[in-house]
Amino acid sequence: MKKNITVAVDGHSSTGKSTLAKQLAKQLNFIYVDTGAMYRAVTLHAYQNNLFSGTKLDQSQLLEQLHQLKINFQVNASNGQSEIHLNNVNIEDQIRNMEISERVSVIAQLPEVREKLVEIQQEMGKSGGIVMDGRDIGTVVFPNAELKIFMTASPKIRAQRRFDELKTKGEKVSFEQVYTNLMQRDEIDSNRKHSPLKQADDAILIDNSNLSLKEQFEMIKALIFCRSERD
Ligand code: DC
Repeated sequence: MKKNITVAVDGHSSTGKSTLAKQLAKQLNFIYVDTGAMYRAVTLHAYQNNLFSGTKLDQSQLLEQLHQLKINFQVNASNGQSEIHLNNVNIEDQIRNMEISERVSVIAQLPEVREKLVEIQQEMGKSGGIVMDGRDIGTVVFPNAELKIFMTASPKIRAQRRFDELKTKGEKVSFEQVYTNLMQRDEIDSNRKHSPLKQADDAILIDNSNLSLKEQFEMIKALIFCRSERD
């Protein structure tokens, strides 16, 4: 490959963005960054520090504390995965439950939070050779990314995938709860004022409702090799 390109993977919730991005990063020996985990980390902080009453956030308290939050990724030597740390504590296993999923969209709407996280993301990707997944990567974080992918799939299929994943982890949730949460998050993420989820004009749309992981991976790998050979 001629150069270390930037790959932006955006799309709806539970479309397998992180699975694909991890596969690509491994294959290409690129850095992988899961930006959803960063919004979840801020949500975990707010949740653990009682800044939520139900799903209602004490916004001013959070904004006061925002500058104290140190969010970074470190490779876990035992599994080779890049895992998220909040103030030097590995929180990878605490951020994907329903308590956090039900509150994260409120946090992700705040421009101050987005500004802080986007700055960290741009710093991580400044030398290229990165696959980053999220909602605004191709539109805001890296508008000049060489390859932009926008992933979607049917709501029922997405909810089933997430439900199966949570059940494997032993979470006690119903399919309806997962489905409702996905629909609500997509609605808030797509209609928020700041950096809403939308397909970049130059992104390639992939609907993986009926694609196997292998088919999807092979298709996108071919695209990356084409893009990285461009001058
Ligand atoms: O990818 P995920 O489901 O872990 O993301 C959690 C939430 O964070 C999602 O509902 C929207 C928000 N998010 C965002 O607004 N911008 C990003 N770049 C990544 C995630």
